[in-house]
This record gives sequence, structure tokens and C-alpha cells, in this order.
Amino acid sequence: MDAADRPILFFDSGVGGLSIVAPARALLPDARFVYAADSAGFPYGTKSEGEIAARVPALLGRLAERYRPRLIVIACNTASTIALPAVRSALDLPIVGTVPAIKPAAAISKTRTIGVLGTDATLRQAYVDDLAQRFAADCTVLRHGSAALVELAEAKLRGEANDPAAYRAVLAGLFDQPGGAAIDVIVNACTHFPLVEDELATAAPRPVVFVDGGPGIARRIAFLTAGQSWRRTGGDVAVFTALTDRERALAPALAARAFSTIEAL
Ligand code: DGL
Repeated sequence: MDAADRPILFFDSGVGGLSIVAPARALLPDARFVYAADSAGFPYGTKSEGEIAARVPALLGRLAERYRPRLIVIACNTASTIALPAVRSALDLPIVGTVPAIKPAAAISKTRTIGVLGTDATLRQAYVDDLAQRFAADCTVLRHGSAALVELAEAKLRGEANDPAAYRAVLAGLFDQPGGAAIDVIVNACTHFPLVEDELATAAPRPVVFVDGGPGIARRIAFLTAGQSWRRTGGDVAVFTALTDRERALAPALAARAFSTIEAL
């Protein structure tokens, strides 16, 4: 494969990584992307550290062999906070991870009260405590883990109708905590959540600003690939570890993001 043909590979358990693809496309319109979703392992957020650590590096190894990416983006907070060091040591490629955007949130919070929405698996990582201590030491940082919100984002991209009450119930998990009424910034610390940001904003009991890692990751990818040449003919590929009707229902959402071919790993 010619160097100019080598894609950037985005990896997530499901469609969440598409929230990272969007700002990356805006910065790199000529780049070839492969979108890989571990639908056979979805969801990650309710799995143990051991299960994720065993699964992700091996899977990325197979994907790297098949698609020869020039760079891999782990577009998943859960996989990144648990498996990033293992992936980096297993693969001889630049690997960009996704970590909760607590630093930019702390930079803009006026009430000094930040909500962090993520998966349960992400929010229990010491990595998150460390980010809060380093970048938001003067803030109250309230966390809420939601597997339901991951499912809502998947359903939205399959074109299914979502109940606004479901979003209010998720946000109650943050705003009903002691001190939660003061939250003015929410970190979307799961890549699925920016996909339902409009629904979350509508359901929020007070105006809030949402932040996520997407724009920062896009800048990082642009920096790491600066000066490289690209050849992109036709649409891009989305690949699933299990390809059933559930994944096929995502075809319109994928095509709208230029992933016109869907295949199984
Ligand atoms: N999108 C993933 C994340 O950023 C996890 C979703 C899941 O599989 O639970 O954490």
C-alpha cells in the first residue's frame, strides 16, 4: 500500500467515535478514514478492566494488519483510560487516545462546579481522579455513569425516536447530587454523548456548556500528520466486529459521514 493511501483508523465500541470523526474531517477533508466499531464487544462501559484490557489491543492489532493505518485514534474514553499504554506498547504506530475533557471544563466554569458524564468503567479510573486533582482542584467535580445514555445515542443514529424523559433522568443523576444545582459545565466523557448533546441541552434544568475531547483530538491528529500526502478516492469504510441488522440500521448515519461501505472484521 502506498503511503498516501494509508488511512487514519478510528476505534470505538460503537458509534461514539463518530463524534471525534466530525471535527477531524473538518480539519483534514482529504484524509482517508476507517471507522471501526467493536459491536461484538459493545458496550464497554459495563465491562471489567480485565475484559477491556484483554480485548482492545488484540483487536487493534487485527485492524492494523487489515487496514494498514498511519495512525490510530482510540475514540473511546473507556478503552483509552484502561488500555492506552497496552495498545501503545503492542503497536508500532502513533496512537491518539481520548480522555475526559476536565481541563477545558475547569477553564470555563464560572460556578466552579463541573459535571462529568461517562461510563461507569471510565469514571472509576484513577486517571479521572488525577485529572480532577491536577486541573480542577478548586472545583467541585460531580460524576455520573450512564449506560442508558450510550444506548440512547446508538438508537438515535439508528434513526429511532428517543424519549426526552430519558435524557432528564440521566441528567438528574448529576443535578440531584448535593451541590449539583450549581453545575454550569458538563464534560461529555464518553464519545457517544456529544451525539446527543442537543437532547441533553434541552433536558438540562439550567443552561450548561458541554465540552468534549473531539476538537483537541482533531488538532492532535492534524499535528501528527502535518505535511503528509493523502489519496482518497470514493467513500470511506466502516467495519464492525459483528455485522447484524442492528449495525446495518446505522448505514444512513454512516453514509452521511462519508462511510459508504460497511464490512465485517
Ligand atoms: N464510547 C465509549 C466511551 O467513550 C463507551 C461506550 C460503551 O461501549 O459503553 O467511553
